[in-house]
Amino acid sequence: MADIRIVAVAGGGLMGCGIAQVFAACGDLEVRIFDAFVSGPQMLDRVRSSLSLFVEKGVYPQAEADAIVSRIHPTADLSAAVGDADLVVECIPENLQLKQDFFRDLEPLVRPDAILATNTSVMSITAIAEKTVKKDRLVGTHFWNPPTLIPLVEVVKAEGTSDATMDATLAVLAKAGKRPIRVNKDVPGFVANRLQHALWREAVSIVENGIADAATVDEAVRSSFGLRLPVLGPMENIDMVGADLALSIHDYLFPYLEDAKKASPALREKVAAGDLGFKSGKGFQTWTDEQKDASRRKLNAHLIQMLYGK
Ligand SMILES: NC(=O)c1ccc[n+]([C@@H]2O[C@H](COP(=O)([O-])OP(=O)(O)OC[C@H]3O[C@@H](n4cnc5c(N)ncnc54)[C@H](O)[C@@H]3O)[C@@H](O)[C@H]2O)c1
Repeated sequence: MADIRIVAVAGGGLMGCGIAQVFAACGDLEVRIFDAFVSGPQMLDRVRSSLSLFVEKGVYPQAEADAIVSRIHPTADLSAAVGDADLVVECIPENLQLKQDFFRDLEPLVRPDAILATNTSVMSITAIAEKTVKKDRLVGTHFWNPPTLIPLVEVVKAEGTSDATMDATLAVLAKAGKRPIRVNKDVPGFVANRLQHALWREAVSIVENGIADAATVDEAVRSSFGLRLPVLGPMENIDMVGADLALSIHDYLFPYLEDAKKASPALREKVAAGDLGFKSGKGFQTWTDEQKDASRRKLNAHLIQMLYGK
């Protein structure tokens, strides 16, 4: 498998532009970006706009931000984008047939040793690879939003993915400053979304059962184990308190925890009523435009502070 020097991103939306920025920030990777509907200048504008926060916070000087943009080459021609690429990262919409057809059409355009990655959030990598011939080089690379800030990338082994593909993908992501993890089985939700949505299921259930309101649930998380999570994950925490204590808590508590196999009726009712959250101004709580902006600003500023100390 060749050293990865040229990365092509297919789909220049929210995730694709961010992922192109991540690889371009690496310095010695050349980045191509292709979108079937969005123009090159529009994609570069998205990257510039994302970089403006990094410049404003002093993470990059303006000259470095300009250099990052200069390493991203947009094109409206897929074969020009991927023809000599060592790695292609697909970031097109979350639709199984669209992704399957994309990889089927991509395969004849790329080098035989190129790695083909999909940024699907939840879909089976094995199913996405179904219409390809050479399945050993197809892998999941699940970046988190915003990909320019969240360090995790879940590198997911599909049924046919080779160890060489896994190793080369993990290596290039680490070189690009990410914290890639190896996911050995292609299961729905991979690792981090399984954990995240187990928590969300319980949070919605607590609200639905009148145990506490939505703002209180969030306060409980932020003021307790949420503070520990950046340095203490659940598995280390079990060892820290003792497997015996964890066992006794689980034996007592698990019968009372939410174990629904379907989404909560409360969540379904919200969606049916058009209460979608930030999108409509009302979800489990109400949101003014100022509150929405403040929430997003608070998140980005927090991530930059944690990651760059700025
Ligand atoms: N948005 C998130 O928070 C998030 C997080 C992790 C993973 N993902 C996944 O990343 C992928 C992309 O999501 P997004 O949020 O960037 O979507 P998006 O809608 O912002 O971008 C998708 C882009 O793909 C382009 N496109 C559509 N069909 C195409 C084709 N056949 N060839 C090339 N380009 C095509 C569209 O024009 C659009 O610019 C999805 O699989 C999504 O599930 C999204």
